[in-house]
Amino acid sequence: MSNDVAFKPSPREFVSAARKSAPEICRTTVIGLYRDARRPRSGSAPASVPRTTFDPTLPDKIANPYPDLERIREHPVVVNEQLGVWMIGRYDDVHAAVRENSVLSSKDGIALQSFVVSSVLTAEPPNHTRLRRIVAPLLSKRSVQIQTSDIRDLTCAALAPMKAGGTVDMVPELTIPMPIAVIARVLGVPRSEWMKFKEVSDRVASAAFAPGGLPEGLRRLPGVLQSYLWLRSFLDAEIRRRANVPAEDLINQFQLAIESGDLADQEAFVYTTLLLIAGNETTTNLLGMLLIKLAEDHELFRELQADRSLISGAVEETLRWGAPEQWVTRVATAPYEIGDTVIPTGGKAVLFYASANRDPAKFADPDRFDIHRNTSGHLGFGHGLHFCLGAHLARLETMTAINCLLDEVDGLELAGPVRWGRNPSLQGPVSVPLRIRRS
Ligand code: HEM
Repeated sequence: MSNDVAFKPSPREFVSAARKSAPEICRTTVIGLYRDARRPRSGSAPASVPRTTFDPTLPDKIANPYPDLERIREHPVVVNEQLGVWMIGRYDDVHAAVRENSVLSSKDGIALQSFVVSSVLTAEPPNHTRLRRIVAPLLSKRSVQIQTSDIRDLTCAALAPMKAGGTVDMVPELTIPMPIAVIARVLGVPRSEWMKFKEVSDRVASAAFAPGGLPEGLRRLPGVLQSYLWLRSFLDAEIRRRANVPAEDLINQFQLAIESGDLADQEAFVYTTLLLIAGNETTTNLLGMLLIKLAEDHELFRELQADRSLISGAVEETLRWGAPEQWVTRVATAPYEIGDTVIPTGGKAVLFYASANRDPAKFADPDRFDIHRNTSGHLGFGHGLHFCLGAHLARLETMTAINCLLDEVDGLELAGPVRWGRNPSLQGPVSVPLRIRRS
């Protein structure tokens, strides 16, 4: 397969991908539906446990969940009977909950609907350790540095029309394509496939987190299946290619691990899908939010421009304040006690990273964006066993892009309204039109 011709699976490759994937898709769907139907609903909690109708998947709540999260933090745990879940929002409780991974497990996925796919995100040790070990070396702080010049080039290219006096919507021009290009490079995906990868990642991510439950899920199913099979055929072809032409990339790591019996090909496929989803939209959102802050606050822009050592603090504060991954879920594998309440075995808990990061008991005046505050302990990348595997890469991408921007222009302003996305958990802007500051 040549590097500049877009991959099109042959009918045989497509059928082979379908044959390999069908049992897994059926298993995942049936087990997920079965577990959701069987799991204890929070409506059975004693009347003394406070109730809420807050639904983080509703558009007006996605736009601003913070007033509701503040009310949730009044108690250690509250119950949403409609969603059938227990909600946890205080910093100490969320922090403790993610550490208790053997009792509050992500084995059913991290969305509201159960999605029982075996991956690093849903695994427990020793499987979790095995899966992380395969990928971690290529995502270490040192390894990711190699991406720096590409990130700079992509940022400079996006800024060129702005420097010529134009307006640039930074989301389609930078914050979406840059993380895709970078994760694609880490994986070893040819350039011709980068946009296809974005499409695949969007479809699968929207299936995992989208509101609308089963009817909406069924409506999206054909598109998701098509993307799924394309990716599976593509990866099979790339892994075959690595057997003859080794490369220094993640797909090569997968190929070696498959060959040594350390990884099944289904696991390699799920891993690739996960890295696409986890690595793209979250980074897009982080960078987008920080760009808005820089455009809205020229003092902040100047301060960072004068002292680049402050950029790291600005990135951490954006992770705290904006929480690009707002919440995750866990399922209780044994009764889990919190305050005077017990989440029964099989009960589903929603852990709000966005709320923990705005808990005044942990961060003073938490709604204020302050790049000088001590952000240590923020949960923007999660915590404990499932702490983000791509944290070094995400930090590098954001810091390098901001550094480059501060080199290239002397001020920014918004050239139109910012529009926010509608993904209930992965929060961020979908349009940030910017131009060079005029006054
Ligand atoms: C700003 C960007 C990012 C944010 C805010 C973010 C956030 C998170 C969070 C909160 C978790 C924990 C989920 C949980 O508790 O269940 C997580 C896990 C994960 N992230 Fe990220 N992430 C980002 C970028 C990336 C990138 C660039 C990659 C890949 C290169 C990545 C790969 C992963 C993986 C594989 C996991 C699962 C780790 C495990 O279960 O052991 N993330 N991320």
